[in-house]
Amino acid sequence: MSITKILFVCLGNICRSPMAEGTFRHLVLEKGLQHLVEIDSAGTGAWHVGEPPDHRATATALLRGIDLSGQAARKVKQQDFEHYDYILAMDQENHINLTRIAPEEYRHKIRMFLEFAPDQSETEVPDPYYGGGDGFEHALDLVDAASRGLLAEIEG
Ligand code: 4NP
Repeated sequence: MSITKILFVCLGNICRSPMAEGTFRHLVLEKGLQHLVEIDSAGTGAWHVGEPPDHRATATALLRGIDLSGQAARKVKQQDFEHYDYILAMDQENHINLTRIAPEEYRHKIRMFLEFAPDQSETEVPDPYYGGGDGFEHALDLVDAASRGLLAEIEG
């Protein structure tokens, strides 16, 4: 079976897409399917390039046994559109920005991540960066549901 390459994308690559990368990788390792996938994350913005994930994302993920250490923010680059099979946007704005910069032949690879969580009432992972409360918990719940759906599609 060939390797499926997946890129998770948000705005800053320090909150949502690192949680998606960590959650999906955790699930893949749990199922022993790491030979089937290549996983990374990136941001459409460059403000946080080189930084580790936001400490709130790291702490919330760790409570679920998901390790985000070792990740560092990077910006989406042109080669990503050719390289990855799935380019998964956390929200509509990310989707629009990705579509704007992608070569036309690769635009079909850009999808909303929550397409893989059809049972959820939301279609976007809300940006938890400026919010308080349970924003990171909620984002992780959505990311977890979509990760399971995505893995089921890849396995199938
Ligand atoms: P993310 O969250 O897109 O989920 O990584 C954000 C992080 C930083 C900023 C915005 C969103 N920012 O404006 O710096």
